[in-house]
Amino acid sequence: MTYHESILLQKLKAISLKDTGGSNEELALFLTKTENITGIHSIRVSGYAVITAMEMGLPEELIASLHVSALLHDIGKLLIPHHVLYKTGCLSEEETALIQEHPLHGSSMLKKIERYRQYCDIVLYHHEFFNGQGYPQGLSGSDIPLLSRIIAVADAYEAMTSDRPYRKGFSHREAVNRLRISRHIQWDPGITDSFLQAIKGFSSGSGIKNGIINEL
Ligand SMILES: [Fe+2]
Repeated sequence: MTYHESILLQKLKAISLKDTGGSNEELALFLTKTENITGIHSIRVSGYAVITAMEMGLPEELIASLHVSALLHDIGKLLIPHHVLYKTGCLSEEETALIQEHPLHGSSMLKKIERYRQYCDIVLYHHEFFNGQGYPQGLSGSDIPLLSRIIAVADAYEAMTSDRPYRKGFSHREAVNRLRISRHIQWDPGITDSFLQAIKGFSSGSGIKNGIINEL
C-alpha cells in the first residue's frame, strides 16, 4: 500500500467511525477537499441517484445505502495520478487501463473499512454495461447490483453535462438524447426511464449543484 493510499484509508476510517448523523456531509467535504472534481461529481451523482430511487419507489433503507455508495463510487479515482485522470490529449492503452482500475481500487479500499464494506460490490460494478460490455467483469442485466445500475445512469448524466479539463460538457438536451439512444445498451432501460422522469423539468444550467437540487 502506498503512503497516499494509507493516508486516504486512515481519513476514510475516521469518517466512518462518526455517528450516522452528519457523516455523509463529512464524507462529501472530505472528497471535495481531497480532489475537487471527483468530489463535486460524486455529490451530484449521489443526488441524481437518490431522486431516481425515489422515483422508482425504493425503500428508505436502500435509498440511504445508495446515498453513501454513490458518494463513494469513484473513491478509487483518488489513487489514479492526476495527470492521467485529467489528461487533455488522447489516452494511451496503458493510461485507459489505469483509469479503468478505479472501481477495483475503490472496492478494495472499502473492504478494509467495516462500515463501508457493504458497499464494495456496488462500487466495483458501477461501470458495468447492461449489455455486458462494461468493466471490470462484463456482468450484464440483473447480474449487476441494482444500486450499481442506478449509479451508472446518474454517473453518465453528470459526467456528460459537466465540463472537464479535457472537454466541454454536453447540454442537458444532448445528454438526455444520448441516454435515450443507449438505454438498452449501456444502462438498465427501466432505471433510465425513472431517471429521465425524475429530472423532467431540468434544463441546461439547472440540475444538482453541490448536492442541492435546482429545479426550474
Ligand atoms: Fe467511475
